Amino acid sequence: MDTKILIKTIDRLTKSPKGILAIDESTKTCNSRFEKLGVPTTEEKRREYRELLVTAKNIEKYISGYILFDETIRQSTKDGKSFTSILKSKKIEIGIKVDKGTIDFGNIPGDKITEGLDGLSERLDEYKKMGATFAKWRGVFNIGEKTPTEEDMKTNAEVFSKYAKVCQEHDIVPIVEPEELIDGNHSIEQCYEVSAKNLKIVFSALKSAEVFIPGIILKTSMVIAGTDSQKQSTPEEVAEATIKCLKENVPDEIGAIVFLSGGQEDEEATLNLNAMKKLGKLPWPLTFSYGRAIQNPALQSWAKNPADFLTAQKLLVEAAKANNLANKGKYKK
Ligand code: G3H
Repeated sequence: MDTKILIKTIDRLTKSPKGILAIDESTKTCNSRFEKLGVPTTEEKRREYRELLVTAKNIEKYISGYILFDETIRQSTKDGKSFTSILKSKKIEIGIKVDKGTIDFGNIPGDKITEGLDGLSERLDEYKKMGATFAKWRGVFNIGEKTPTEEDMKTNAEVFSKYAKVCQEHDIVPIVEPEELIDGNHSIEQCYEVSAKNLKIVFSALKSAEVFIPGIILKTSMVIAGTDSQKQSTPEEVAEATIKCLKENVPDEIGAIVFLSGGQEDEEATLNLNAMKKLGKLPWPLTFSYGRAIQNPALQSWAKNPADFLTAQKLLVEAAKANNLANKGKYKK
C-alpha cells in the first residue's frame, strides 16, 4: 500500500467545491428506472444514456470523479471512444462499484448483508488497468422496529473492512458506504441513533483490521426523518443532526466524507448540503456523491426526447453546478 497515492487521490476527489457523480446503478436498478419512464431496458439504451452522462460538456468544472458500474466501465461512445478515455481526458477520476448487491441476513426481515468479496482482488487488478483510482462498496440498513440488528451491523462492518483492506493493497481508495435507507416512518431521532451506532461499529471494525483511515472515504446517508414520517426534517435540522453525528462518530483523520442522496427530492439534497456548509469549519473534507439528485432531471428529459442529448446534458451540468454552490453554502432555492 502506498499511502501517498491514496491521500493524493482523495485530495483530487474532494477539491472544493467539486463532488462525485454516481452513475453506478446496477443493471437491475438502471432498468427499473428506465421502465418507469418507458425507456427500453436494453444494453444499448443503458450505453446511450451513460454516453450522455460521460460526454456532458463542462461537467468537469463541477465533478471530480464518476463512479461506474462493471458494464459501464467497459463501454464506449457510439463512435468508439471508451468512456474511461473520455473521463481521463477531462481529468475526472474513475471509480467503480465493486460490491455485488445485498441478500437477506439472519432471521429478522429487513436485515441485509452485501456480497462481492469473492474474486475482488482480481477484479481490482483489472479495474486498475482500466484507470480506476477509487472503488465503492454499499451496505444498506433498514430502520425498523427490530432492524438493523447489532449482528447485522457488525457483520457488514467486517465485510467493509475486508473490502477496504484489499482496495488499499491495490492503491485504490475505498469508499465505505453504510446507507441507512430513507424509506419508512422513522423520526430523525431514530435515524440519528441507528446512524451513530452503525458508524461506531464500522470504525471500530476498520481500526481493528488496521485499515488506513486517512486513505478511505466514508459515503453516508444524512440524518433525516423517513419519507413516511409525519414530521419531515428541515435542512437546518438535517444539517445539525448529521454534522453532530459525524463529529461524534467518525475519526477526525478520515480522508473525506461524502453524501449519497438516497431518494431525497433533488433540491432537498442540495439544500441539506448547503445548510451543513453554513455551520462553519469541519474536521474533514465534506462533499456530495449523488446519483439520483444530479441525474434525475437529465434522465427525465432524455427519456422524453432521446434525440436531444444537449438539453439533458445541460440539466445534468446545472444540477452539478447547484451542488457546487451548496458546497460553499451559497446555494439559493
Ligand atoms: O449507492 C448509492 C449511489 O452511489 C448514490 O446514489 O444519490 O441516488 O442515493 P443516490
